[in-house]
Amino acid sequence: MEPAERIGRFTESVIREQTRIAHLFGAINLAQGFPDFDPPRDLVQALEQVLQKGGSHQYANTWGAPEFRVALAEKLTRTSGRSVDPDRELTVTCGSTEAMIASLMAILNPGDRVAVFSPFYENYNADGILSGAQAVHIRLHAPTWNFDRSELREAFAEKGCKAIVICNPSNPCGKVFTREELMEIGQVLEEFDAVAVTDEVYEHIIYDKNRHTHMAALPGMSERVITCSSLSKTYSITGWRLGYVWAAPKWTNAIRKVHDFLTVGAAHPLQMAAVVGLRSEPSYYERLAADYQRKRDAFCLHLDRAGLAYLLPQGAYFLLADISHTQMGDVEFCQFLAQEIGVAAVPGSSFFEYPVTHLVRFHFSRKDETLREAGQRLERLGERI
Ligand SMILES: Cc1ncc(COP(=O)(O)O)c(C=O)c1O
Repeated sequence: MEPAERIGRFTESVIREQTRIAHLFGAINLAQGFPDFDPPRDLVQALEQVLQKGGSHQYANTWGAPEFRVALAEKLTRTSGRSVDPDRELTVTCGSTEAMIASLMAILNPGDRVAVFSPFYENYNADGILSGAQAVHIRLHAPTWNFDRSELREAFAEKGCKAIVICNPSNPCGKVFTREELMEIGQVLEEFDAVAVTDEVYEHIIYDKNRHTHMAALPGMSERVITCSSLSKTYSITGWRLGYVWAAPKWTNAIRKVHDFLTVGAAHPLQMAAVVGLRSEPSYYERLAADYQRKRDAFCLHLDRAGLAYLLPQGAYFLLADISHTQMGDVEFCQFLAQEIGVAAVPGSSFFEYPVTHLVRFHFSRKDETLREAGQRLERLGERI
């Protein structure tokens, strides 16, 4: 007896493998994107209180604790301008990771095609395979990461896609889709009776004049957009595993069935404590974005001094750096970087379906002092290559 065939169709996560390499060489981990700083104090205090108080040590309601869904609905209503129903439109999941796979399994049949923008977050490949669907890639073109309208249309008109995955803001390239772009995609969805599954985990990490648009709140999109997101990045609690799907009741009913049998539900006490985060004032989110923008700009100065070219991200906390001049491929470079320079990054090839070996991805969700140390190490790169 062998493991199922589908397991052979995707590899282990390249990102998490780089974390293991970072540990092996004691390198600063700028590979796997999670903060090395603690969440806001009031969330931790709320968790202590919830645990002491009791009453949430058993399963929560499968769709999510009502207190959590109500607070989330209020937040989403405020940020999207669309009234969100906590009972019929929200499902609380174990991170956006579960939200995405549960959504795709709920809407796609084996053999269906799903459009995915490339570069893409590596989970989407595995999600496609696990849900039995076949990915059709639509290229985002550097340096603007714009897409070609005819390629988008072709994915639905000729290749028969039933859905599209949109990571907004995008990991790894930091693209923030504009309202106009999302409306254009929406028109194509309407024309071909298709849907979008969006991954909006970086919705509050947006730079400069860019703005986040909830595609689900655009005119005519409430039935066509399934929004996945999470609290992982917004409140620096990736280990709490709290995410959600916001979708019209028709989709929510289907997604809840998958979710129920996949995980039953997200951790009850953590949902209760996270209500404090969901009720944060707007200033919390402004500060979050400003802090990350400062980290981005400080890290970029180090890259400038290291002689590494990069594209400035509009959102999320990653950037792709160009290593063409090193004469190394991305996998070799990342090994060298971890072992000899003491910084871990991710080979860019893991984000593209076509051969790209001249890019590596760094994340900058690190304390200022960690980033400074990583940056100083990177500045020594010139002496070594
Ligand atoms: C685009 C994207 N989606 C989802 C996730 C995982 O989110 P969660 O912790 O909510 O499962 C990540 C984590 O890096 C991510 O970059």
